[in-house]
Amino acid sequence: MKVLFALSGSIAAFKACELISHWKKQGHDIQVIATKGALQFIGKATLEGLTGHEVLTDNFHDGHMMKHISLARWCDFFILCPASANTIARLAQGRSEDLLGSLYLALEKDRKFFLCPAMNSEMYSHPAVENNLQILQSRGAHILPTGQGLLACGEVGYGRLLEPLEIDSYIRRELERRTTHPKRVLITAGGTTEPIDGVRSITNTSSGKTALRIAEYLARYGHDVQFLKNVNVDDPKGQIQVSTFKTFDDLQSGLESALSQNHFDFVIHAAAVSDYSVKQVQTSNGDALSTQEKIPSGEALHVVLQPNPKLIDRIKFQSANKNVKLIGFKLTNTQDSTKQSAAVQRLLQQSGADWVVHNDLNQIGLKGAESHPFRLFNQSQQVLLAGSTKSELCEALFDLLEETFSSEASYDLMS
Ligand SMILES: Cc1cc2nc3c(=O)[nH]c(=O)nc-3n(C[C@H](O)[C@H](O)[C@H](O)COP(=O)(O)O)c2cc1C
Repeated sequence: MKVLFALSGSIAAFKACELISHWKKQGHDIQVIATKGALQFIGKATLEGLTGHEVLTDNFHDGHMMKHISLARWCDFFILCPASANTIARLAQGRSEDLLGSLYLALEKDRKFFLCPAMNSEMYSHPAVENNLQILQSRGAHILPTGQGLLACGEVGYGRLLEPLEIDSYIRRELERRTTHPKRVLITAGGTTEPIDGVRSITNTSSGKTALRIAEYLARYGHDVQFLKNVNVDDPKGQIQVSTFKTFDDLQSGLESALSQNHFDFVIHAAAVSDYSVKQVQTSNGDALSTQEKIPSGEALHVVLQPNPKLIDRIKFQSANKNVKLIGFKLTNTQDSTKQSAAVQRLLQQSGADWVVHNDLNQIGLKGAESHPFRLFNQSQQVLLAGSTKSELCEALFDLLEETFSSEASYDLMS
């Protein structure tokens, strides 16, 4: 393959040389782009010796003036490894003062761009870096996770560049990944918003970002995805049919019509559905107020909440495909593992879900945007997989869809 390999200024640049050497031995053609920062860590001689090509840095380079376009068209994929905080920020801003920045902008949308962060863990979890990574990821970059352990600075944590062979296998999996048996998948995303009056509401903290990632991932690798999202969740990239909801009632009717009108193979119900909706708003004397307009401020009020039915419990009944597979999500807020397991068990039993993805609030978002510790349970309450990032969750669900098909295929052959 033709690999456009960019390096930026990180102490981990030496690992990139190992990866380049590994890929070279496998017969890939590699063109290196190095920032000035990267060349503080690794000499041109090493990179040119390994690849057999001149190392390029600037836009203005005698004999290579249009390289930002020709290399962007030449490559099969583009990798930035290691990706420093500074270069991540420059790419997120779309700055093109050097060849790397220009190449990133000139890359056609169907070329894959892999980005391998490497930095100290405080830097990695800084909101500025998190936001920049999110921007790049929302534009289609594949952000690889980082490793955890002892960092070059002596501190321990996330932010360590993955080992060369880990990067190699991640990228190989991404390049080869494509389902041979596309499934129809419905994914719900985001929280519901329950109105108190014409301008106020009760909602929850769900951003819908994990479900968005899952939807984009499954669609990218060949599945036919329908995305039912809260109006505030971003639109997914790719060929995905989108419909929206705001309140519990919207989601309830949206689910009902989607399930009855389509033959979904899988439903991934990741929406955070409000357990209550507002029944009535009363003055302290018990008089009901009209909730159509804006309730005047100043007085103490009683908001009477009524429990909502559990939408997930109805999914299998409402589905036109009676063999639909259901994946539920359970968020707990306790570090007590017995309570966590009991909550998962309740969901599995009540909803008839085939699998449940469990997260705990105390762990989500602690290590950065990509960090997303989860456990995937099957119906017998066994943990099939414990992962720590959104990418791992996407891969796990993709694999689940593939494996389910294989087991059904063998069942069909036998029956
Ligand atoms: C010894 C040393 C190690 C560094 N390691 C990293 C690193 O791992 N990640 C990072 O984002 N910045 C690191 N930096 C800071 C960057 O090299 C610096 O921000 C530089 O301007 C990055 O330039 P570039 O992104 O244009 O390559 C390090 C700096 C020094 C002096």
